[in-house]
Amino acid sequence: MTKKPLTLINKKNIRVDGRKLDELRPIKIELNIIGNANGSAYIEQGKNKILAAVYGPKEVHPRHLALPDRALLRCQYHMSPFSVKERKRPAPSRRETEISKVIRECLSPSIFGEYYPRTSIDIYIEVLEADGGTRCSGIIAASLALADAGIPLRDLVAACAAGKVEEHLVLDLNGPEDNKGTDMPIALMPTFNAVTLLQMNGILTTDEFEQALNLAVKGCEQVYTLQKEALKARYINVKEEVEEE
Ligand code: CDP
Repeated sequence: MTKKPLTLINKKNIRVDGRKLDELRPIKIELNIIGNANGSAYIEQGKNKILAAVYGPKEVHPRHLALPDRALLRCQYHMSPFSVKERKRPAPSRRETEISKVIRECLSPSIFGEYYPRTSIDIYIEVLEADGGTRCSGIIAASLALADAGIPLRDLVAACAAGKVEEHLVLDLNGPEDNKGTDMPIALMPTFNAVTLLQMNGILTTDEFEQALNLAVKGCEQVYTLQKEALKARYINVKEEVEEE
């Protein structure tokens, strides 16, 4: 008997994790969870579990890297060895180096770095569990960690991927979808309608690209609402703590 090939989207357009084509994975965000950092955030997005911590603005080490007119922004995205099915070597891979670079570049326009010349702002993103779209989840958490550190921002940076799986355009690809289909992660500063990251892994036609971009922007707008709620919840907690004292 020949086996039927496994499909990721059924006839009713429902995905393997029960989502509709244009539905985000469930997102849970918490701020201020790393006591030793200046700002931090934790995100769960579907099976992704990611921590972001921010240190700074602080004195730059080594000092010769200091910039005379703005803060030096550094970013390290790292996947823990236990974050994926097959143990990942702990040393930074080329993929992690690339993701660190694009995340730094996509967050940089949101930061008033000129307020802090000759300092550094260090962002650490640690993936505890990965299931596709970790750069987007990492960006969501890192932008909130920057806000939690009290760093003045032009806007929060939201992020979301759209792409194509088995001839369907879908939002927020999970691991199996990411492996099989075309993935297009974007980051957005919604107040300015400014895209600060756009990558694509796979092939789309021009029409599909436009539709996927619109879908990803809509995803970012939903993410942005959740980010603002998480930030508000953090300050309601602070208010309650102050009132208790
Ligand atoms: O995570 P993101 O989609 O931003 O980046 P990717 O390079 O497209 O990786 C997609 C997914 O592949 C990750 O989220 C992981 O679930 C998986 N992966 C893995 O299993 N082992 C690795 N060494 C790297 C990625």
